[in-house]
Amino acid sequence: MQNTFLIEAFQTPSEVADTLTPYFFSLKRDPYVDSDVRFRSYARFTLSSSGGISRLAHAPFMQSSEVNRVVGDVLREFAPMSDDMIQTPAFQHLLKSFASATGIEKEGAQVDVHQIRVTCSVNDTSAPAPEGIHQDGFRFVGIFCVQRKNIAGGFTQIFTSPVDQHPHLNTVLEPNQFIILDDARYYHHISETLSSQSGEEGIRDVFVFTA
Ligand SMILES: [Fe+2]
Repeated sequence: MQNTFLIEAFQTPSEVADTLTPYFFSLKRDPYVDSDVRFRSYARFTLSSSGGISRLAHAPFMQSSEVNRVVGDVLREFAPMSDDMIQTPAFQHLLKSFASATGIEKEGAQVDVHQIRVTCSVNDTSAPAPEGIHQDGFRFVGIFCVQRKNIAGGFTQIFTSPVDQHPHLNTVLEPNQFIILDDARYYHHISETLSSQSGEEGIRDVFVFTA
């Protein structure tokens, strides 16, 4: 049975982010945003009744324009996620944590995972969520932070409506922090980022899980 929590946040063992950080350097540029600061990969998984998790065939990703006003109703062909990374105990730990926290552990349940790097400079802000305050169009959304390097901003914000002046929750996800929310109940946004170090690139690496 699915769980009914609204927001759940927890910390994973510290080696999880350390193990997964190197896999963000080979990400391909996201061709669906008009900038060269966003890099990503994508994979789909399914759960078996025995608790196993297997990868589904790679497929394009699409969101309705009702939830994504920037690239809604567009079939997006993201690069497939690294199989080597998926096999790591660290990544498997994240998949299992998301499945058990949400209670979606029934046979055939599907989990999508997006691996996303957004970079920024001292002079130009970057928008980790170009669509603004939004829902992803799923039952649950999880965000796991792998790395924040030289980053100012990038607040994870949760709202009760798309026109709220103030977020219900406004926090910075640090590496190894996982937040999962009821996507049907809440809207979310990630505020803009700027590099906090002159002459240095800012990097924010996350995984987004949906089910
Ligand atoms: Fe989102």
